[in-house]
Amino acid sequence: MNTNNKPNVLIFGATGKIGRVLIERLNQASDVNLIAAVRSPEKAAPLKTQKIETRIIDLDKPEQYGLSAIQPALVGINRIFLLTGYNVSMLAQSKAVIYAAKNVGVSHIVHLGAYAKDDTTVAHLAWHQMIEIYLQHSGIGYTHLRPNWFMQNLLGYGGRDNQNAGVITQYIGDALVSWIDCDDIAKVAAAILRSPEQHNGKTYPLAVEAHTMQAVSEIFTEVVGQPFRYEPHSPEEFLKIVLEAGADPAYMKCVYNVFTRTREGSVTEAADVFNTVEQITGHRPTSLREFAQKHKPELAY
Ligand SMILES: NC(=O)c1ccc[n+]([C@@H]2O[C@H](COP(=O)([O-])OP(=O)(O)OC[C@H]3O[C@@H](n4cnc5c(N)ncnc54)[C@H](OP(=O)(O)O)[C@@H]3O)[C@@H](O)[C@H]2O)c1
Repeated sequence: MNTNNKPNVLIFGATGKIGRVLIERLNQASDVNLIAAVRSPEKAAPLKTQKIETRIIDLDKPEQYGLSAIQPALVGINRIFLLTGYNVSMLAQSKAVIYAAKNVGVSHIVHLGAYAKDDTTVAHLAWHQMIEIYLQHSGIGYTHLRPNWFMQNLLGYGGRDNQNAGVITQYIGDALVSWIDCDDIAKVAAAILRSPEQHNGKTYPLAVEAHTMQAVSEIFTEVVGQPFRYEPHSPEEFLKIVLEAGADPAYMKCVYNVFTRTREGSVTEAADVFNTVEQITGHRPTSLREFAQKHKPELAY
């Protein structure tokens, strides 16, 4: 534990898409003590080599063993970035973190949720909103981040190992949806974790540009210099593939619902865009074209 006067900032999801970049950024910040939460000593090893402090916290443990499975690891922490995975366990995990954080005197939690209108009836988006309300109810300072579609979702469709290189498969027909680069989400989170007071009690939607999948394939074609084409598939096909791959059925049925309803046009906020990234970080967000440029080696085939 650090003994200087800087706040101790704990990052959940430190090995994931957003968390990795958030760790990189806060590791360069001189005004906070950075601590990565990881679920095993093996996951801690690469961070330790970079001299990043780690704490072992498996968010599945409280359901089995109670709050004592995570609360001691939160002692001394002042601020938390709370991110959970693509699983209905997100509910029990987030409640446990918030409750334990309250018990040890954490002052601020930045919660990574998902973009939806407050009256959404899509279940996993509602789960994120219930976590937000529970966090507000706890009395801990809070900031809610609500990103829409991650640009990184598009990287699964390219890359050397992909047999269908150049084919972008998606399940939303011709619908227009808005996108954000996970690196920008991490930059926003870093700025808030460094100065939480000015973002306390705020909810930030994060989405910078709206594109159909056809438009995405045209941008990739131009930037990469190789042909990309959009191949629309049915949401039923998505559900079959992810369930066979072992994903959580409860969460994935919600994603299936998003695809179905987005395709039909009943998610009216699907293409909303905001200037929140610039407002919070002072920098222009990454466009989809810039994202494709940055990931050209992964997309090329
Ligand atoms: N994809 C989208 O378009 C989109 C849009 C809006 C919001 N979201 C939200 O984004 C979140 C996921 O973010 P992401 O894509 O950055 O995640 P990710 O890359 O899949 O990473 C998940 C992180 O959570 C950690 N984790 C999972 N289960 C854990 C457990 N039981 N104990 C401790 N750590 C655990 C993982 O650690 P390990 O390395 O040990 O597995 C990993 O670091 C979800 O809440 C989702 O609803 C996604």
